[in-house]
Amino acid sequence: MRVIRIENLKDDMVLARPLFQKHGIVLLNEGATNLVRYKEKFKQMGIFYLYVEDDESRGIEIDDVVKQETRNEGRRVVGEMLKKLLNKQRIHINEIQDVVTSIIDDILTNKTVIVNLTDLKNTDDYLYGHAVNVSVLALIIGHAKGYSEKQLMYLGTGAILHDIGLALLPEDIVRKPEEKMTSEEKKIYRSHPKLGYETVKNSWDVDAFSKLIIWGHHECLDGTGYPRGLKGNDLHEMARIVAVCDVYDELTSSEIEPGKKMPSYLAMEYLSLNAGIKFDAEIIELFLNHIATYPVGSMVTLNDGRAGIVEKQNEGFPMRPVVRLLNVADYAIADLMKEMNAVIVDSE
Ligand SMILES: [Fe+2]
Repeated sequence: MRVIRIENLKDDMVLARPLFQKHGIVLLNEGATNLVRYKEKFKQMGIFYLYVEDDESRGIEIDDVVKQETRNEGRRVVGEMLKKLLNKQRIHINEIQDVVTSIIDDILTNKTVIVNLTDLKNTDDYLYGHAVNVSVLALIIGHAKGYSEKQLMYLGTGAILHDIGLALLPEDIVRKPEEKMTSEEKKIYRSHPKLGYETVKNSWDVDAFSKLIIWGHHECLDGTGYPRGLKGNDLHEMARIVAVCDVYDELTSSEIEPGKKMPSYLAMEYLSLNAGIKFDAEIIELFLNHIATYPVGSMVTLNDGRAGIVEKQNEGFPMRPVVRLLNVADYAIADLMKEMNAVIVDSE
């Protein structure tokens, strides 16, 4: 199995995982063939990548740390919650907590150290998918930090709720990239952490940590964040974790060219460049050590021009996976722990 850009679909590729639409409705089932004919439809729906099986990728297993059912349920619950918020109805935090419990269970039973985060987000359900992804990432970091289950629950709940304030802003502002906003729009957009906090501050069933996360997820270590411009340790550690995960998910969801999202390694490069400046250095280190820089199933190019598919991770060395080489006569791999002169120079 591998992950392929819609642009690069070929006739012999078979869908390897069901394709879900918004709210978890199955669009295409596993095993679907003739995928090339849906190319335009996929693009219209904001689907940029697919899991496929073909001869070149046969035998490569992609394990996602969180089950697809857990993600779908998460998206559904977040969708319902946002609807209720807009209609000024009471939100039921226990449904969110059930989702967080399922994510925690999935993470705790996961045996691998380097987590392959392979959720292929569609652009149409960005807000729902984003909430679930940030929660998964934050919980991986919280788990690596040795948080108790109770602490993980607070962290995961806050991470799911972090952008709750965006649901109350005009959609045209929310969907606009920040660099294209007028200063007035930016001001409105940047009010979302406070707005989110105010929405839940009187809810007794939302814990205090989640409230801190909602209010603090856009603050930076160096005081350049918003809304309060908090510095250093003034920001609670859980909010610092969510801040990192939020930026990572945001970056890897952004299009760097039509139909191509920012690969994980570039988002990680941004995070490490800002370690100790904007972001907590210890959290960044945990992040880089636990989330795959080059996920299994992704395409990579090596410095000597060879290209291949990541076949598996080498534990403790997220930059040096085992790569199954393409365009060679027989099955051949480059194990980057053995070929120390080889480095990955590009990935998608
Ligand atoms: Fe936000």
